[in-house]
Amino acid sequence: MNLQQDLFKPLMAAYSRGEPLRNDQLYKSLSIDKVIPEGALLERVPTGKDRALHNPVTRKIRWAQHSLRALGLLEKVPGERGVWRSTAKARGELTPAPRRTVLLGFSTKLGLALWGDCADVFKGFNEPIHCCLTSPPYCIDRPRAYGGIAESLYVDFICRAMEPIVKNLVAGGTIALNITQDVFLKGLPARSLTPERVVIALHEKLGLYKVDSLVWSNASKAPGPIAWASKERVLLNTGYEPIYIFSNDPSRMFASNQRVLQPHTERHLKLIAKGGENRTGVYGDGANKIYPGSFGAPTEGRIPRNVLQFGGRCHSQTEVRRFAKEQGLPVHGATFPLALAKFLIEYLTRPGDTMVDNFAGWFTGPLAAELTGRRWLASERMLQYVEGARRRFMGFAGYSDAHLLPEWES
Ligand SMILES: C[S@@+](CC[C@H](N)C(=O)[O-])C[C@H]1O[C@@H](n2cnc3c(N)ncnc32)[C@H](O)[C@@H]1O
Repeated sequence: MNLQQDLFKPLMAAYSRGEPLRNDQLYKSLSIDKVIPEGALLERVPTGKDRALHNPVTRKIRWAQHSLRALGLLEKVPGERGVWRSTAKARGELTPAPRRTVLLGFSTKLGLALWGDCADVFKGFNEPIHCCLTSPPYCIDRPRAYGGIAESLYVDFICRAMEPIVKNLVAGGTIALNITQDVFLKGLPARSLTPERVVIALHEKLGLYKVDSLVWSNASKAPGPIAWASKERVLLNTGYEPIYIFSNDPSRMFASNQRVLQPHTERHLKLIAKGGENRTGVYGDGANKIYPGSFGAPTEGRIPRNVLQFGGRCHSQTEVRRFAKEQGLPVHGATFPLALAKFLIEYLTRPGDTMVDNFAGWFTGPLAAELTGRRWLASERMLQYVEGARRRFMGFAGYSDAHLLPEWES
């Protein structure tokens, strides 16, 4: 029997509550749980060069403790002898960056991932930004693991977070802001107007123009709002989230639908091939007119509509989830599908432009930037998400990381 490895599970179980445990307490609890055979703690055998008498079981336990420490799962309580506890990583907890502390998580030739509060990362920032694609924490009743923002503070929170970015946004640059519409008035099947207030505040306080309100339609979205759709049955299930597009100068926007053209339908290709319509029609009280030859001009593709269909899950998310689980890191519960982020980045920026994400999560937006040759800078407040995300960037040119977690083994 390999007692040392067999000890990993019971040891982690003993420390699972996160409280420090003295070794004598640990031995006792392992005996009670029959992990250690009865009487084994009393045994003494000559060990090592000096043949001093030691207990072989407690020696194995201490070896197991050190192995678990090397894996970043256990740590010694500083200043105390023989007292250990599980690490935040082992408990799947999230470690927020202390205020005014910004550390490099990892970097590539194109970008920098920073562990820090966005207020600290972007304070004093002074580089041109072409686009910000971000999905801040929501103001929801039951916040995600990484927390939420009280509704009364939400508008100010968003304005403060966006201010340094807007200050550095080049003329015609854009901000793509994804916030939920599922915030309800207390006890009512009525949606809060906070998202609308955010839009108005970004216009009035930061001078941004609302260019579009894209509909991100997600057919795999979990059913909800449970209270009002499944239980009271007065509302429909939510099928989309808004992504607001803002610009500081819409007359100079360099967003281009030509970078995200979709293939024409067979029907449209046939129409082009025969030189377009051969009829005349007037629709919508004259707003739309069709003439012979309409829609006959060959074009490279179809201009996408502002309803974007992207399922919530994708291969890239599955991979990073697997990595996080293997490493004992918490799984992020609110990420973009990579294809959506890629679509937005390609639509809103040109190769070589700089995008930022101040609420980066698992860095899906920055990953899209990396894959499409844009420069990027992103901040995330929770250490474990930065650590999970870095796996997604390992193969890229110039990848380097700072191993933020203590005694991290990749
Ligand atoms: C909705 S998630 C973003 C997910 C991301 N779009 C993705 O696809 O991976 C919001 C993230 O903002 C982070 N966050 C919250 N407050 C923050 C702050 N003040 N500064 C930086 N990050 C913050 C949270 O920890 C969370 O990971």
